[in-house]
Amino acid sequence: MRAFVAAALAAGLLVACGGDEGSGITVLAKQPVAAASEVLSAKLISSDDLPPDGTRSLFDHLIAANGQIPYPFPKLVELIRKNDPDAGTPLTLLVPHGRSLLKGLADDAHPRVLAAADFQAPATPASLGLSPRGQLFLGFVENASEIEVLSYNEAAGRYEFQLVQNYCAGCIPKLVYARRAVCTTCHQGAVPIFPQRPWNETNGAPATAAAIRTARGNEQPYLDVPLAHPLGVPERFDQLTDVGGFIPATQRLWIDACGASADCRRTMLKLALNWLENPAGFDAQSAAAEQLRGLQAAGWPEGGISVAESDLANRDPVEEGRGIKGWWRQLTTRQPKPGDGAKTNEDLEAFDRLPKLKAAFDPLSSRTPKRVLSAQDLDGVYGLAALFSDADRQLLESAAGFDAAKLLAAVDRIDDAYFAPAVYSRVKTINALLVALGSPPRNYCCLDTGELSPPVASGEPPVVLAANSPLLHYEAYCFACHRGNPAKKLNFMSGVDEAAVLANIKAKDAIREALDWPRYQGTDKANKLMPPTDSVQHARLQAALAQNPELLDEMRAVVPGLFDF
Ligand code: HEC
Ligand code: HEC
Repeated sequence: MRAFVAAALAAGLLVACGGDEGSGITVLAKQPVAAASEVLSAKLISSDDLPPDGTRSLFDHLIAANGQIPYPFPKLVELIRKNDPDAGTPLTLLVPHGRSLLKGLADDAHPRVLAAADFQAPATPASLGLSPRGQLFLGFVENASEIEVLSYNEAAGRYEFQLVQNYCAGCIPKLVYARRAVCTTCHQGAVPIFPQRPWNETNGAPATAAAIRTARGNEQPYLDVPLAHPLGVPERFDQLTDVGGFIPATQRLWIDACGASADCRRTMLKLALNWLENPAGFDAQSAAAEQLRGLQAAGWPEGGISVAESDLANRDPVEEGRGIKGWWRQLTTRQPKPGDGAKTNEDLEAFDRLPKLKAAFDPLSSRTPKRVLSAQDLDGVYGLAALFSDADRQLLESAAGFDAAKLLAAVDRIDDAYFAPAVYSRVKTINALLVALGSPPRNYCCLDTGELSPPVASGEPPVVLAANSPLLHYEAYCFACHRGNPAKKLNFMSGVDEAAVLANIKAKDAIREALDWPRYQGTDKANKLMPPTDSVQHARLQAALAQNPELLDEMRAVVPGLFDF
């Protein structure tokens, strides 16, 4: 009966509400990338799903260095924090009824968890510090067993969109590069996005926090995130997405605003260092600033350089359900059942079946740029300056003997080749400056891909094992960490099919040792035993051993020992 009323009302209201909704994501994700590809930056910055050869996301580097994807989620957040001993806990937030691709699976009892890094680590004598502020974001929906990852690729000058699929207790997680075209339907301009003040969708809003508390039935943090936050938390998250959102614009300013002119980039960098030294004393009308404007005017791309809009209109899901408006909505829109919508990021059609949002609130609606910059704007200068951390500034100042003029003179000594059109890299720039100042260049944790396994695209099918495969135990207790591991040396159970995986396992004789529990337990080599004692797989293997004491021997038999030769 109610459905009938709803249908009738909906039909009657179609004219009123109709044109207010945009195309579904299934259609949008198939549209070709905007044809602005004539500009230099579009040639230098890839828009492929996988990162360009020899470059990787910050997230891959952190996971490879750690050896595994920590589980459960609070441990992953802790890994981010551990990268700066002085850092506070990363910023985390709850969003029970948001607008993300996985929104259908989040609810008040299991809200989406957002996390963002917010620190700049100090440099050490050997290396530059990590600077992930505004460059590393996670979105986790527990009911989808999927983490969405947005992290910056320093060498490629772009954000990478990744997924940790199958992220659940005892599951085999899979770290893949997502289909960019899907992500950028909402993350327009390939940047992080976030609603505007007062962030009613987040647990910074009292009514949203109260709904979460009621649904969870207690005050205990969910996945270590407090159920209620002060408004300062979403505010900071918003700032971080804005900071991050400007980076792709900075790349365009560095590349396109200057075109072929090395002079232009050299002047831009000098002004950025000027600004960094003394923001309050920066003179936007100085001779150098005017010179930059002139150089920019010579090559400025037709149509200007736009800054993607990273802000979404605030939406209040609690208010939407209240009062006469809420009643009207209930009648006129099909209500999602719990669990409706996309189960994974591949599930676009299920997403499209969810009730549509009004265009003004829908992240799929095409947004006009936040700003369109002209050759008179000095935003390239500010954008570059923002990419230096405090520690970077101190390092450069001390290398220049605290003499600002010396630092600027160093820019003049950098080879012209450095200023040829290319992706801007913070690390590369600092090292060029250090060398010009007569100091040795520094290492950086997260550039070299020599020790990383190849990146994996989403949609690659998992390996299917035969019913009596000798690898079944490996699948149960080892694949979670040794297949698709971004660290090359820990990826020794990779392979497209059973035969390939078997060959790789046979080639790794260290496995025999790692499974020799009787020999090493209680010795100083016990920490080499696998699976690691704090993992779910360890607990499961231990339980299975109680049933089948031969299990470890059966696994070891797969890997030829020395006697077999
Ligand atoms: C239907 C729109 C939509 C699509 C498609 C989408 N996102 Fe988002 N995403 C959002 C919205 C809205 C937010 C901000 C608020 C939230 O998380 O609820 C967000 C936030 C995020 C965040 C947290 C950082 C930030 O930008 O605020 C990450 C990480 C993220 N998305 C990753 C991805 C990845 C990876 C993909 C592609 C697989 C993707 N998203 C596709 C709508 C979308
Ligand atoms: C929860 C994640 C996890 C699981 C499950 C796991 N490993 Fe490991 N494994 C690691 C990590 C992390 C290292 C690196 C440890 C180190 O460097 O100290 C490692 C190292 C190893 C090494 C040494 C590699 C080398 O070249 O030094 C072997 C061999 C190994 N694992 C075998 C196994 C086997 C066999 C299983 C299944 C019975 C297994 N692992 C299950 C995380 C895991």
